[in-house]
Amino acid sequence: MARIGAAVIGAGFMGGVHTEGLRRAGVEVVGALGVSAEETAGFVKAQGIPRGYASLDELLGDSAVQSVHIVTPNRLHHGMAKAALEAGKHVFCEKPLAMNSKETAELVALAGKRSKQAAAVNYNIRFYPLCLEARERVRGGEIGKIHHVAGSYVQDWLLLDTDYNWRVLAEEGGELRAVADIGTHWLDLVHAITGLEAEAVCADLMVVHPIRRRPKGEVETFTGKLGAEADTEPVKITTEDYGSILLRFKGGAKGTLWVSQVTAGRKNCLRYELAGEKAALEWISENPEVLWIGRRTGPNEVLMRDPSLLSPTARAAVGVPGGHAEGYADTFKQHFRAFYGYVEKGDFSATAPFATFKDGHREVVLCEAVLESHRNGGWVDVKGA
Ligand SMILES: NC(=O)c1ccc[n+]([C@@H]2O[C@H](COP(=O)([O-])OP(=O)(O)OC[C@H]3O[C@@H](n4cnc5c(N)ncnc54)[C@H](O)[C@@H]3O)[C@@H](O)[C@H]2O)c1
Repeated sequence: MARIGAAVIGAGFMGGVHTEGLRRAGVEVVGALGVSAEETAGFVKAQGIPRGYASLDELLGDSAVQSVHIVTPNRLHHGMAKAALEAGKHVFCEKPLAMNSKETAELVALAGKRSKQAAAVNYNIRFYPLCLEARERVRGGEIGKIHHVAGSYVQDWLLLDTDYNWRVLAEEGGELRAVADIGTHWLDLVHAITGLEAEAVCADLMVVHPIRRRPKGEVETFTGKLGAEADTEPVKITTEDYGSILLRFKGGAKGTLWVSQVTAGRKNCLRYELAGEKAALEWISENPEVLWIGRRTGPNEVLMRDPSLLSPTARAAVGVPGGHAEGYADTFKQHFRAFYGYVEKGDFSATAPFATFKDGHREVVLCEAVLESHRNGGWVDVKGA
């Protein structure tokens, strides 16, 4: 894939992860752009990227750039993705795709008109091999009709009122935070595995810290936990730290999800349990090399991520033999391989093997239904996904 040149916009947590993942996927990172000349210079030097741009226009004007990775705060996604599509670039945007469904619908429509460009949203968790395996087994009928789905996505990095990041501000990240930031990973994953479409939600959200203490200066994601003493100022917070959501899926299945960014000791833990008429499946991101298969009439199984034990689709997303741990960073590599493999083939009418802008739109529509449900205190139909 060395012929495709990618540029990265954003120089924080995801800037580094995308750069590394692109290189591991065989894609050349030809340039990058940060929020300031200083940040850009520091990032390209640290990452060994040949070119730092002075502006978005300069980046989009570079013919060496065929693809743009948008890894900036959420409020910037819409404008940057739109500009990149209009400049003829393939776009790989971080989640959530944009701040509201009006923006995401516009991006879906625009991407639909660009018949020779690919557009992805980074729901990377789909690309854990055992999540792909779960999909194969569900779609192959091994667990039967799904009765219900339960799970959670919990973290602890925003537990204290001194924990701060741009995400906690509605104007930077969106009106929903925990649900949009991590809950949509779970919702997308469950959809990708089962194909179930949520038709109604009932949600209850909680802001644990209505006031947080903001350091004077930005804080890269997760680095606040390193505990450096900082000069702070109080800031009012309206975005939720915790949410519980009941789901009704088309066809009659039900779901339960809770999300939290204030659960001590849970570093980054996504869990799902699918209960079907023949079997159940459970997977936990903090132990991602194992898929639990529950049976009523025979012994349960613990399936290890060993390529010899997996379906061809899941095996294709395995990088190293069983027992040689793979994890979070590998899901980026695999999502990028799927995306750039599709771009290289050049058949843009084929079904996309990655998470698309339509998937990104579905998640933002769901978020809006969740917020409406919380505000109104009842069930809300999911419309327009
Ligand atoms: N898929 C995942 O697992 C995952 C994990 C974390 C974050 N994310 C998503 O990635 C995005 C970035 O999050 P992060 O955690 O890396 O945040 P971060 O704060 O660590 O990094 C954001 C970067 O964007 C830069 N930036 C801000 N404005 C800019 C501009 N106008 N032009 C260029 N750069 C600009 C910042 O200076 C910073 O370098 C978010 O949308 C987030 O939801 C996804």
